[in-house]
Amino acid sequence: MNKKNLDQEPVSQAKHQNKQADEVIVIAVDGPTAAGKGTIARKLAQHLGFACLDTGLLYRAVAVKALENKINWEVGQAISLSTIARKLTPLDLSHPALRDEIIGRGASIIAAIPEVRSALLDFQRRFHLLGKPVKGVVLDGRDIGTVVYPDAHLKLFITASQQVRAERRYKELLNRGLPVIYAQVLLDVQERDNRDQKRSSAPLIPATDAIIIDSSSLNADQVLAIALQHVQKKLGLP
Ligand code: DC
Repeated sequence: MNKKNLDQEPVSQAKHQNKQADEVIVIAVDGPTAAGKGTIARKLAQHLGFACLDTGLLYRAVAVKALENKINWEVGQAISLSTIARKLTPLDLSHPALRDEIIGRGASIIAAIPEVRSALLDFQRRFHLLGKPVKGVVLDGRDIGTVVYPDAHLKLFITASQQVRAERRYKELLNRGLPVIYAQVLLDVQERDNRDQKRSSAPLIPATDAIIIDSSSLNADQVLAIALQHVQKKLGLP
């Protein structure tokens, strides 16, 4: 498939899939690394009784399988990696190595490969069909509101300054007992932002109709309260 087709595919497929998903409400929660969007997505889903998918886990699961199969993501490998992506199952999203730092770095590189992104679209758009019937889904990631579900019922874009995000990540790693240096964590956040924003396929960018929440000076409960106000206003849900 050439690049032109890959770029066009997401929107046309999303419209089709959105028709199938007419009965479920879709909330997109996008934003850069360590902005706290995962926590907000989970809490929103819990509050609303929706299913929740952390789409970053899909890219991480591809990295886990690549490592297991000795596939070097540093040198392209679009075909092998997209084959892995196409075969992922929900079980792959609970592998104990998913949160390892090496997997996070690999996922960031793998996520820039258009063929992998394309291969993961189906999983994301069929997620609401995978478990028991649900009223709605919350998907968190980078391109949910722009590519995966351009017609999502509500789009939130959660962000914070690079310094604040690096501090949050630093504290989280310290709490996990890992030996970390703040300057290194900041550099890592900057590198990941760079890759997320500069990649040609589905770069990280707020959808034009996304509600942007800057969480730099807010705690998780405050961000959740703002998100819930928008849920109430836009979707009429309590
Ligand atoms: O959010 P995370 O760190 O678990 O995501 C892992 C990687 O996957 C990260 O580098 C960004 C990428 N990603 C993406 O490109 N698109 C998504 N929808 C979700 C994650």
